[in-house]
Amino acid sequence: MADLGHDVLGVDTDERKILALTEGQAPFYEPGLAELLLSTVRSGKLRFSTSVADAASFAEVHFICVGTPQLPGSFGADLSHIETVLQGLAPNLREDCLVVGKSTVPVGTATRLAARLAELAPPGISAHLAWNPEFLREGYAVEDTLRPDRLVVGATSAEDDAVLRKVYTPLLESGTPYITTDLPTAELTKVAANSFLATKISFINAMANVCEVAGADVVTLSEALGRDTRIGRRFLSAGLGFGGGCLGKDIRAFIARATELGVADSVHFLQQVDEINSGRRRRVVDIARELADGTFAGMNIAVLGAAFKPETDDVRDSPALTVAATIRAEGAAVRVHDPKAIENARLAVPDLDYADDVIKACEGADVVLHLTEWQEYRELDPAALRAVVRSPQIVDARNILPLRRWQEAGWTVRSMGAAVPS
Ligand SMILES: NC(=O)c1ccc[n+]([C@@H]2O[C@H](COP(=O)([O-])OP(=O)(O)OC[C@H]3O[C@@H](n4cnc5c(N)ncnc54)[C@H](O)[C@@H]3O)[C@@H](O)[C@H]2O)c1
Repeated sequence: MADLGHDVLGVDTDERKILALTEGQAPFYEPGLAELLLSTVRSGKLRFSTSVADAASFAEVHFICVGTPQLPGSFGADLSHIETVLQGLAPNLREDCLVVGKSTVPVGTATRLAARLAELAPPGISAHLAWNPEFLREGYAVEDTLRPDRLVVGATSAEDDAVLRKVYTPLLESGTPYITTDLPTAELTKVAANSFLATKISFINAMANVCEVAGADVVTLSEALGRDTRIGRRFLSAGLGFGGGCLGKDIRAFIARATELGVADSVHFLQQVDEINSGRRRRVVDIARELADGTFAGMNIAVLGAAFKPETDDVRDSPALTVAATIRAEGAAVRVHDPKAIENARLAVPDLDYADDVIKACEGADVVLHLTEWQEYRELDPAALRAVVRSPQIVDARNILPLRRWQEAGWTVRSMGAAVPS
């Protein structure tokens, strides 16, 4: 927003994050963010605070971007962070304003929050709510924010819509499609998009399961299916499945909300999407156990990758860490490498060993697991790694390594969705 020319005050309750941001330091790894942050902080366009009351008196437009994680013990979304923001913001408003939700929420939330906002705002202050779901991808967040493939705005009046069109003027001028709709359609667009993406990934992973027993090859199948322009190649790679802080919790929150609305049957397939996805993690553990001659006891397992996907240090619901922790629980010594996510991984799963280079991670390994598809792993030298492992066996759980080269260097290789060797 600051780069688009607005004066911005960023508020977070996490003091450490605000301190780092104030000094122009990004509190997480995201390509291009460090430079953008530094330039906008230095220009004075972007400032930070831990006080939501500061924000209330500062802006005409307030974006709410706080987390909506899964509730413990339930599929539903925890909306308490949004409620807290609204309770802190609304009574402190000093002028008419637009509050815009960006968080991913169950359909129906915005209508309820709009009423709550009007109720909490001081008398004489007109505060409206709009919903503008966020579609950015971690790893491409800067690019997706400055050049989004669409903007979706749920608004209850033409005036509110006009405010958001003004906010996004530079993007509209560069041709970004802008879709105006009602609040529930805007909320649902985000949830439906994530449900579709999760379904596409689980579809090809289900095909991978079939390929393994039918003697077929899922990589070629994806390539052949993806050439059909109605299907498309993206999100059609079989492997370890999805993770992170969004897809899983969003499809579960959708199941919970659809159940409340009496249409559980319509999204029942998402339960299976979720189950196919968690099955991939178990499948990798099973393949690794086979290579370890049936038991992990006394084995050394090297894990390449801890982030839930490349180009991020986010380890929320990381498939790689789930696999690593499961194998550790079965008695192996597990040593994990990641180019960016070691610090977060250590906090999330402290009882694994961590190494800051790939060679160290693989020293003495009986099985190497390639679990997050960082570019540097594609470029590894199989001969150099062979010299340090105890047993040259690798599982490519992301189906992207040049496995023929690895075989030529003497490695036993396994991938996902290929015929199981007899
Ligand atoms: N991460 C993504 O790629 C992505 C993409 C699209 C949409 N979303 C959605 O955006 C929302 C945020 O996701 P995230 O991954 O950034 O979550 P996050 O947990 O990483 O960040 C949320 C931030 O909100 C802060 N916060 C919590 N309560 C607060 C309060 N009362 N006042 C001020 N700050 C507060 C937290 O300290 C934290 O820094 C979620 O609804 C998510 O589904 C995320």
